[in-house]
Amino acid sequence: MDSLLDVHDLKAYFNTRYGEVKAVDGVSFNVGHGETVCLVGESGCGKTTAALSILRLLDSPPGRIAGGKIIYKNEDLLTCSMNRLREIRGNNIAMIFQDPMTSLNPVLKLGSQITEQIRLHLGLNEHDAMARSIELMEQVGIPRARERVNDYPHQFSGGMKQRVMIAAALSCNPEILIADEPTTALDTTVKAQILDIFEGLKKEKNMSILFITHDFGTVAAIADRVVVMYGGRVVETGPATDVFANPHHPYTIGLMKCLPNIEAEGGRLTPIPGTIPSLINPPKGCIFQPRCDMGLEMCANEYPGEHFVSARHSVFCHLHRT
Ligand SMILES: Nc1ncnc2c1ncn2[C@@H]1O[C@H](COP(=O)(O)OP(=O)(O)OP(=O)(O)O)[C@@H](O)[C@H]1O
Ligand SMILES: [Mg+2]
Repeated sequence: MDSLLDVHDLKAYFNTRYGEVKAVDGVSFNVGHGETVCLVGESGCGKTTAALSILRLLDSPPGRIAGGKIIYKNEDLLTCSMNRLREIRGNNIAMIFQDPMTSLNPVLKLGSQITEQIRLHLGLNEHDAMARSIELMEQVGIPRARERVNDYPHQFSGGMKQRVMIAAALSCNPEILIADEPTTALDTTVKAQILDIFEGLKKEKNMSILFITHDFGTVAAIADRVVVMYGGRVVETGPATDVFANPHHPYTIGLMKCLPNIEAEGGRLTPIPGTIPSLINPPKGCIFQPRCDMGLEMCANEYPGEHFVSARHSVFCHLHRT
């Protein structure tokens, strides 16, 4: 599949009083035309930092991009001019932020929050922009959208707010949608409805989606391809069906054991022992080694390179050296 967005060796660090946090440390992945790629990993592994870096939205300071390239159609988003970047943010790549509660302005009516973006990006007059807002709100399943454009965020449930965020992101008809944990705070039925909206966008508009989640169940529901991150790095990547059928990295295997499986072990989940290491002074070798029960001696000293399981499925793990 042709790549539309190519993240290459991205490094994004935060300056803190304890030292430099290597939140993203040499991450590479790509998103193809009309493809849904899921970035998955435990809390704190660098998913949001990677997503924000794509559009240069990291707070700086304390954040900084320490290296890499983000190639969108032959153009590096990390070095293009701010004007060009604004154009791309408005027309080509849209982002849904992790927390809709803080992304929506509590004192502005929801309709005007979407309308504002439409007027800014598409140059429509107020009347047409409002009509387009209502159309978008209907498209993402907000009932009585014509009346509800006049509501404030606190009058909407979490699921409805999330729909507003999606509608706002769709206002510029983007080619790529980056969605950071858009279903995490939602109950199972609402989550399924929101995932359906994403499926629809992919099918009807051939949209490319970079979907961020810590939940492998969500990955199973929507991903074409999966990028598993741990401690600021990619540990395994491949077509979702391959990774599910044949996970190779001990971390991916561990994450899959955390999936609810009613039939196995009386429905118990098996957590991965230990916690994510500090990203200030990460272990010298494989970053997962302190939690890994399958490690080799070399894992403590040498960071593993990329080993290919098949043409599109690869893993960063010494156990799979060929
Ligand atoms: N503004 C900041 N200042 C300092 N450190 C930060 C900042 N933002 C993130 N970090 C650190 O960077 C690392 C990666 O954080 P990030 O938010 O990207 O993780 P995440 O995978 O999105 O987690 P979650 O699933 O909880 O959203 C963490 O160690 C975090 O503490
Ligand atoms: Mg996050």
